[in-house]
Order: sequence, then C-alpha cells, then structure tokens
Amino acid sequence: MKLMVIGSGGREHAIIKKLLENKDIEKIYALPGNGGIAADAECVNIGAKDKEAIVKFALDNKIDFAVVAPDDPLVLGVVDALEEAGVPCFGPRANAAIIEGSKVFSKNLMKKYNIPTATYEVFEDMNEALKYLETAPIPTVVKADGLALGKGVIIAMTREEAIDAVKSMMADKVFGESGSRVVIEEFLEGPEVSVLAFTDGKVVKPMVSSMDHKRALDGDKGLNTGGMGTVAPNPYYTKEIADECMKTIFLPTIDAMNKEGRTFKGCLYFGLMITKNGVKVIEYNCRFGDPETQVVLPLLESDLYTVMRACRDGNLAETEVKFMDGAACCVVVASNGYPQKYDTGFEMTLPAVGGSTDIYVAGAKITDGKLVNAGGRVLGAVGKAETLEKAIEIAYGVAKEVKFENAYFRSDIGQKALAAGK
Ligand code: AMP
Ligand code: GLY
Repeated sequence: MKLMVIGSGGREHAIIKKLLENKDIEKIYALPGNGGIAADAECVNIGAKDKEAIVKFALDNKIDFAVVAPDDPLVLGVVDALEEAGVPCFGPRANAAIIEGSKVFSKNLMKKYNIPTATYEVFEDMNEALKYLETAPIPTVVKADGLALGKGVIIAMTREEAIDAVKSMMADKVFGESGSRVVIEEFLEGPEVSVLAFTDGKVVKPMVSSMDHKRALDGDKGLNTGGMGTVAPNPYYTKEIADECMKTIFLPTIDAMNKEGRTFKGCLYFGLMITKNGVKVIEYNCRFGDPETQVVLPLLESDLYTVMRACRDGNLAETEVKFMDGAACCVVVASNGYPQKYDTGFEMTLPAVGGSTDIYVAGAKITDGKLVNAGGRVLGAVGKAETLEKAIEIAYGVAKEVKFENAYFRSDIGQKALAAGK
C-alpha cells in the first residue's frame, strides 16, 4: 500500500513512524513534510492547503489511503476533495471540522446539547462586546471565532486587558476575519487534560490521556507556545473522570454532530478542564494534538493504519484500540527565542533512537546535504517507560544529545504530573 500524510510537523512525523510499523505499507509520501521526516517518508513539495495539487498527486500516484493531519486543510475540505476523487481518507469532512474551525459553532453546539462548558456570549459588534465588558465578571476569556494559529485566546485578568483583546481582534483584525466574531466566556480553573479520541461517527474510543505544557519557560512562565512538551497519561484523568467524560462529553458530542448532520470521523481532540463543578470542555480540535500525538502514539499497541481505516470505514466498534501500560514524555527542543525571534540554519546532529526513545522532527530542513533547524519548535525528544519518572529521564537524555547551536528546552516537563501522581 501507498499512503500519503498531509502536514509538516512533529505530529505528522509521529503518525508516519507509527504507520510504518504496518508491514503492508510500502511507502509513505509526506506533503510537504520536512527535513527530518525525509528520513522516513518521501517529502513532496505540495502545501497542506493546496487542495487541487493534493488530489492530483494522490490520483497520479495511486495513493491507497490519505491522512489529513492539520486543522487548516481539514477546515478547507481537503478530505471532501480527496474522498470525492475516490481516495479514502482519515479525517473529518469540512462540515464536521467546523467544530474546531468556529468557536461560535462549538459553543452553540455544547449549549444546545447540554455538554458542559464555560458560559459565554457571542458578539459580532465591537461596541456591544465593549458594553458587555463594562459589567462582565473578571477574569474573563476572549476568543476569536476562527482559526488563529493557536493564538486566538486571551485570558484577561483585568477589564483593560479584556477591552484591549476585543479591540485588537475586532478593530485591528490581528487575526484577520477569524476575529470578526468573538466569544467572551467564563474563566474556569482546574487542571487541564487533553484527550484524543478515535471515532467513526458511531462509537468513540479515547486514547491515553495527556498533559501539554504550553508556556515557553519553566514553571509555566513566559509566552504561550504551540506546546513545549507533553506527558501521557495525565494523572488527573482518573478512571472516575474518564467515565464521567464518556457520559457527559464524548458520546453526547458524537451524537450532537450526527443530529446536526455533521458526522465526525477521525480524531476528535477534547481539551478539558477538571473544575470544582465537574469536567468542562475548553475546546475541541478536529485533529490530533501537537505535541500530544508524540506521547500518545508511542503507547499505542494496536496497528494505527487498521484503526484509522476503521474510523473511515465505520467499523471502529469491531476494531481493537489498545494502549500499553506505562508512560511517555516528549521534551520539545526549540530554537532559542521561540515563540518570538529566533535564528535558524544551524547544523544539527541527532542521537540514534529506537526502543524506548524516539525523535519526531518539526522544524528542520536539509541544506547542502545537512540537516539544519528551520523553525521555532525543532523536534520532540521522546522517552517511554513503565513509570512517568523514568520516561521523563529518558526523554531528557535524548534532548541533551540533540546538538545545534541555539537549542533550547524547558527543564521541567512532566514535573507537575509527577507531583500530582504522588
Ligand atoms: P485554546 O486555544 O482554546 O486551547 O485555549 C488556550 C488555553 O487557554 C487553554 O489551554 C486554557 O489553558 C486557556 N483557556 C481557554 N479557555 C479558558 C477558560 N474559559 N477559562 C480558563 N482558561 C481557559
Ligand atoms: N497542543 C495543543 C494543540 O494541538 O492544539
């Protein structure tokens, strides 16, 4: 079989490596992939959003199965285009990807179907939003409606910050059209959990839970990033909480999407907060998380291709989705200065990996035959072991062996989880 994976990050590298464990897969193309992914897949210079070129490539190369990983192409309908051309795909169609593509849609869905989430108001008119903020409870949370590269959420600790956030989204259009509508919602508190779940639109099979570390610096300080590291499982996600989530969130969401005529197939990501008043949905993503995937897939024992195919074909109920006991940790090695200004183009050397270690490359390219850093988040160094403590130690062992001039990583990935688990 020949497969194609759309995307270019560490998440895609982890998906590709897991898929390659299936011996029936002869070849994987990555569109566009990156310099590190090139060691495992043939990278093709076609952008993840170039719908026509993607379909043409799939047909010309007789692709048997495609995985569309990032949010943008999913929201743009790349799965729809491929399926209509006869190429089976893993991932939701555009009418279901809207669950991530529009926060107004997802909030209204949750309200209509009684799925627990922060209370909220939607505004299309800036003056009305500003008027509401005069008396709104503070802190509050301001969210741009559309996709905003993960930056469209402002936690406002003061009224002034909330006002500035609304103005920057609605008047200055810092997120373009994504900010023409905003959601202003209740500020929630409690530990956060990421749960990625496979679904064929009928049943939902959650993967092992995980914990992201979004801030750039140790102690959860500094700017928000795309994620500086992850661990799985998340110790806050107990069996009781998992049961509650299945009943009040996972099944109701699949059901709600079906009732809306927007059957969701693929990986649905539940961003959850465990509050004093129960578990609430912070956000949905229509895809695998990054860097959650880098700790979740190494713990998957079942064959990823078989599971993905079952999500697409509608026989997930009969398909085993099994995770091993134990834990995994991913330490993101970044270019120093990320998420602001940083330098690239430094030659990299990577340690050999395998068994309990792995490396998933996110931001690197090959220049004059050498691998050089080419992005903010450069790679994820991954360790897995029977205990979280050991997994963290292994992951840091790998991270320290990654050499390039301005390499930077947090030194406390997993410490919060370790403390919570004790
Ligand atoms: P998102 O881009 O939706 O993942 O939001 C980014 C982060 O903002 C989340 O991971 C939470 O830490 C935080 N956040 C979002 N919504 C809320 C909320 N209602 N209350 C508190 N924190 C929130
Ligand atoms: N790690 C958060 C996300 O993938 O959206």
